[in-house]
Amino acid sequence: MRPSRPNDLGAFWLPFTPNRDFKAAPRMLAGAEGMIFKSEDGRTLLDACSGLWCVNAGHGRKEIAEAIAKAAYELDFAPTFQFAHPQAFTLAERIAALAPEGLDHVFFVNSGSEACDAALKIARAFWQKKGEGGRFRLIGRDKGYHGVTFAGISVGGLANNRKPYGPLLPGTDDHLPLPYDAARMRFTRGEPETGADFADALDAVVARHGAETIAAVIVEPVSGSAGVFAPPLGYLKRLRAACDRHGILLIFDEVITGFGRLGAAFAAERYGVVPDMITFAKGVTNGAVPMGGVIVSRAIHDGFMAGPAHAIELFHGHTYSAHPLACAAGLATLDLYRDEELFGRAKALEPVFMDAVHSLRGESKIVDVRNAGLAAGIDIEPDPKSPGLRGYAAMKRCFTDQNLVIRVSGDTIALAPALIATESDIARMVDGVRAAVRGL
Ligand SMILES: Cc1ncc(COP(=O)(O)O)c(C=O)c1O
Repeated sequence: MRPSRPNDLGAFWLPFTPNRDFKAAPRMLAGAEGMIFKSEDGRTLLDACSGLWCVNAGHGRKEIAEAIAKAAYELDFAPTFQFAHPQAFTLAERIAALAPEGLDHVFFVNSGSEACDAALKIARAFWQKKGEGGRFRLIGRDKGYHGVTFAGISVGGLANNRKPYGPLLPGTDDHLPLPYDAARMRFTRGEPETGADFADALDAVVARHGAETIAAVIVEPVSGSAGVFAPPLGYLKRLRAACDRHGILLIFDEVITGFGRLGAAFAAERYGVVPDMITFAKGVTNGAVPMGGVIVSRAIHDGFMAGPAHAIELFHGHTYSAHPLACAAGLATLDLYRDEELFGRAKALEPVFMDAVHSLRGESKIVDVRNAGLAAGIDIEPDPKSPGLRGYAAMKRCFTDQNLVIRVSGDTIALAPALIATESDIARMVDGVRAAVRGL
C-alpha cells in the first residue's frame, strides 16, 4: 500500500494510445451534451466521431440517463444465468424487430469484441450440433476489425493488432481481400460501382480447403476501423450467394454500421442482404452503458434447442450479459431513435455529408476520401519516414487548434457525426479537418 496520488496520471494505462505522449499533454474531456464535448480546460469541442462511433443520438440524453438511474435503484443487478429480468426480453424483442426477417434471437454480451467472439463460437458450435464438426474454419477479411479478443484479432486483418500476440486461433489463416482497389477507387462517392467480383475470392478458399471445413465468413459490411471502405455495389449479395453455394454461415459485424449509421437500422437492410448473424454494440445504448450482442437466425438458434430440456444449450455468457442498466439504456435509446426518426435523418443527411467530405479532394496532402452513410475515411499522404505521424499530428491539431474531436488510425482520419448533426456541424468538422491538414 502507498498513499494514492489523485492528480497523478501514471496509473491509468490508456488503450490504443501512445501513453507517454498523451500524459505529456493530456486531452481531457470533462463533459458532453448534444454534439459537444467540454474539455477540462473549459473549451467547447465539436465531437466529429460520435464519441467512438457510438453516441448516435448525441450526448447527454436525459431520457437515457433517467432510465439508467431508475434501473440502478430498482434492480441494480440480476444474473442471467438460470434467472433473468423482464427488460432483457423486451430489449431482445425490440432489437430483433429492427433486424431482417428471420433474425429473431438475441444473445447479449458487453462489447463489440465479445459480440464477435460469441458469434464465432456460435458458428463453430452450431456445426458441431449438426454433426458437421469438420466445419471449423472462420474466414475474415484483410483490414477487418472485429475487436480485440484472440478470435477477433485472428479473423481480423489489421497487422498491428495481430503481430505482437504470437500464434493466433487455429483455422483462421485465410482472409478474403478488402474489396478495394486504390488505382480505380480513390475518391469514390459512396459505394464503388465495380468490384462485386472481390466476393469470388471465397471460391478460392473453398477450393483450397473444401467447403466442408469452413464454418463462417465474418465481414464488416462497411469496413470501419480500417478507414471506412464502402462495399462495391452488389458485393455483399455476391458474398451471400457464395456462402449459400457452399453452405457457409455469413456474419455481418455491425458494431459500427448498426443503429442508423448508414441511414437504416442495419447495413443488412440498406444493402438488402440477410446474413445468418449480426453482431452489434456501441449504438445500442448510445454509448451510455457497455453492451453488445449477436442477433441470430431462427435456424441457428433452433439448431441448439435439441436434447433434454434441462440441459444448457450453449456454454457461453458473461456475468454482465443483459445487465439491467444496459437494458434500460438500450430501451431508452431505441425509443429515441424511433421517436426522433434518427435513422431517416441520417439518410437525409448523407448527401450533405458526402458533398462536404469530398470537398477535401484537391487538398495537396489528402490522397483519398471514402464515405458511406454518416461515416467517412480521409487518407493523409503518409510521411515516408514515419507512417502514422501525420495522422496523429492532425488529430492533435484538431483538438488544440480547431476545437474538434476526430478519430485517426494511422494516417486515416475518420469522421462519423451523430445522427442529430446539423449541416453546419458537418461543415465545421470538414473545415476543421481541412485547416488541420493544411497546417501539417
Ligand atoms: C466492426 C467492429 N467490431 C468490433 C468492434 C469491437 O468493439 P469493442 O471496442 O466494443 O470491443 C469494433 C470497435 O470499434 C468494431 O468497429
